[in-house]
Amino acid sequence: MTQKYRKILVTSALPYANGSIHIGHLVEYIQTDIWVRFQRLCGHSVTYICGDDAHGTPIMLRARKEGLEPDRFISRMNQEHQQSFARFGISFDQYYSTHSPENRELCELLYSRLSAAGCIEQREVEQFFDPVENIFLPDRFIRGTCPNCKSPEQYGDSCEICGKTYDPTDLINPKSAVSGATPERRKSPHFFLQLEKFRNALQSLIGSGFTDETVARKLAEWFGDRLKDWDISRDAPFFGFEIPGHPGKYFYNWLDAPIGYLAGLAKFLHGNAADALEFWQDPDVEIYHFIGKDIVYFHALFWPAILIASGLHPPRRLFVHGHLTVNGEKMSKSRGTFINADQYARFLDPQWLRYYLATRLTATPADLDLSFDDFTARVNSELVGKLANLISRCAPMLSRNLDGKTGIPLADALPLIKEIREAQATVTQLYEERNYAGVTRLICQLADKANKYVEDQAPWTLIKKDTEAARGVLTAALECGRILTLYLKPILPTYAEKVEACLRLEPMKWSDAVNSMPSQTINPFEHLITRIDERRIQAMLQDNSDAALPPTGAPSTDPAAAGTAAAPVHAAATAAIEEPLAPTCTIDQFAAVDLRVARVLEASAVTESDKLMRLVLDAGPLGKRNILAGIKKAYTAEELTGRLVIFCANLAPRKMKFGVSEGMILASGPGGAEVFLLAVDSKASPGQRVH
Ligand code: MSP
Ligand code: ZN
Repeated sequence: MTQKYRKILVTSALPYANGSIHIGHLVEYIQTDIWVRFQRLCGHSVTYICGDDAHGTPIMLRARKEGLEPDRFISRMNQEHQQSFARFGISFDQYYSTHSPENRELCELLYSRLSAAGCIEQREVEQFFDPVENIFLPDRFIRGTCPNCKSPEQYGDSCEICGKTYDPTDLINPKSAVSGATPERRKSPHFFLQLEKFRNALQSLIGSGFTDETVARKLAEWFGDRLKDWDISRDAPFFGFEIPGHPGKYFYNWLDAPIGYLAGLAKFLHGNAADALEFWQDPDVEIYHFIGKDIVYFHALFWPAILIASGLHPPRRLFVHGHLTVNGEKMSKSRGTFINADQYARFLDPQWLRYYLATRLTATPADLDLSFDDFTARVNSELVGKLANLISRCAPMLSRNLDGKTGIPLADALPLIKEIREAQATVTQLYEERNYAGVTRLICQLADKANKYVEDQAPWTLIKKDTEAARGVLTAALECGRILTLYLKPILPTYAEKVEACLRLEPMKWSDAVNSMPSQTINPFEHLITRIDERRIQAMLQDNSDAALPPTGAPSTDPAAAGTAAAPVHAAATAAIEEPLAPTCTIDQFAAVDLRVARVLEASAVTESDKLMRLVLDAGPLGKRNILAGIKKAYTAEELTGRLVIFCANLAPRKMKFGVSEGMILASGPGGAEVFLLAVDSKASPGQRVH
């Protein structure tokens, strides 16, 4: 391959620090990571930057709710995010945060350039103020009826039904989503970026292949009207950077968020703003942002405008993907139909998701569906049945019967091997164009041919008459398996490592497709990848619905769930499966859970729910606690009243559809009718700590 060496800077959008990573997010990080790994395999220099988007009112409120200083809260989230990403093999070169000294320096610098360029205007704005929480309400925290299509319950910035964007003050019958109060209108001076001044620059950028055509067409619609000025300031109290010279005024978090890409770069370079800008401006560096279709406006208009006004060039391209749906339903944070990355990883292999999402990803911003039936079918039939099969059948056969020594591929396999090698040009192009669905389709077709070759040659019979011919067949099959593994390596790095270990190969590079596997003794075969047992999926979904309905499972970490109880993803059947062990916890983490004895004073079934019981616990000196527990199918009110239970006393209260739950009762069992409350000796008394 005579491709020239490239210098590439890649980013994924910075996830908000107020919630956990979920499988919808993973579409983006897996999509980016596959592309990044592919480029690295090709030998290009890639810098992959990401980090938390750590500023803003939702994060401030979330920290408040958890009783933590925002700094503490976001650093905890940052760690959690990094761990989640590591589980899915996302290979950032730098994972940083918008709440960093580098970002402050860059924000101040770029803002001063915007001011100097004369594209910032100050004027009074009337905004919604929550008189209960004493904060100005961000658009997303106001709900009301869409002024355009009249759909109820829409956010303050845009309508999810008709797609119209508007000002929150345009909403009909607005309410604060934080306190439920009717917001007041208050005036204060704000700073605006005059976007219209960049019309020509932005239009020519978008006209020159900045995004794919579908996205460009959408953008063209926005140019139909005057481009609205963008309010880049916020009033105290706010968690963010104060605007120099304007006490009480803060940079809007969407101003400092994309600048966070540069901050991550500065950190990566062990440098400051100037170092990051120098790298950015290097004409040899290709810059690409991977983003979801919901944040195109910010990345195609605001961000390039900020860069252009600051004398910097816009990125080369935006790669926009669609949204993930689960079993055909839209994932919704507030409705709880999302599966956290960590929760997925407790039950299912991250590689399965990487593979499955790859089979669904193309270069278009179309939505993609995770259907669990399809997920199971494709992973089992393609990944396990076709791809891993080639090696997991042939390597043990070679080890058992032929001392594990590879030889020279049998001559009749050479056309097949040649075909697989020659497919590399197409695979390369498909990866480059982010058509991973095309990549996996092609690899599967080639694997079909290789498997057919093995079937036709029947080395298990051949071995009895001609061991060397059998060795040639198995060597050929392993060679095919090796090259196909290389083609899959950006998608399945862990699997590829296992194959490399099995075949005793150095980590393969893209150029290794043309080199033949050495003749040598391979390692004893070790299992490569497991089939999906559908019961694991059921167990995960069950766990997710339990998380939404106590007593079993963890509290929801849903950031936007204020006021709405999370609905279960699925009414999953009870699965007879051993639950995998949760990750190890330290003694300190264990000690942080305050378990106490309590007596059930009152119990009553929640009529609107088929799972929930409302309990009043007497926790002795700790007082009374109201608890909503998902045990209605297992216990009657009579059975519960008067008995002693163990409950978690320091769990953050959770607002659910039917009221606030102030703790969780300990029980075992898979759920539904099979919930077994833990027994407490009658000598124990309410309030006692459980050791
Ligand atoms: N903080 C902003 C991005 C700032 S970038 C300077 C943000 N954060 S986010 O956490 O809401 O989303 C991060 C990325 O994940 C976005 O690109 C978003 O489109 C993507 N996704 C979030 N939910 C998703 C799905 N359900 N499906 C696919 N992608 C999703 O936006
Ligand atoms: Zn609407």
